Amino acid sequence: MSISFTVNGAERTTDADPAKPLLWVIRDELRLTGTKYGCGVAQCGSCTVMIDGVAQRACVTPIDAVAGADITTIEGIEGPEAEAVKAAWTELEVAQCGYCQSGQIMTATAFLQETPNPTDEDITFAMDNNLCRCATYARIREAVRRAADTLEA
Ligand code: FES
Ligand code: FES
Repeated sequence: MSISFTVNGAERTTDADPAKPLLWVIRDELRLTGTKYGCGVAQCGSCTVMIDGVAQRACVTPIDAVAGADITTIEGIEGPEAEAVKAAWTELEVAQCGYCQSGQIMTATAFLQETPNPTDEDITFAMDNNLCRCATYARIREAVRRAADTLEA
């Protein structure tokens, strides 16, 4: 059975097993490799994408759960929050190895879309479940703060 959805504005259809995680359809079929596999059990956040505007973990999302959904990956994020986040990430040189960073940016962007005037505590809480093996946490929090301040200015 074919399953259809939208990814970064383009209509997509897959014949994958309905239980196959969205992550592998994105990476292996659509060749959008910015979304990363970290743990496979919803613990690290490296596979974060937006599904109908909400940050979700693609490693534990079966493809049949996104039938008809609007999916955005790191390759397709746009809008003021995404631009502010990407600019702050670049200015503050947040990434170290970079592996976790697309998930961090997706989470930060979705957070700022929902929370226009966050406190520092809001930022810490929002980013708390995205792991970074290089421990760039301080720069991540600083970059989200800068992006939020840019959007508020
Ligand atoms: S790979 Fe999905 S949360 Fe870790
Ligand atoms: S920058 Fe290396 S895992 Fe986060």
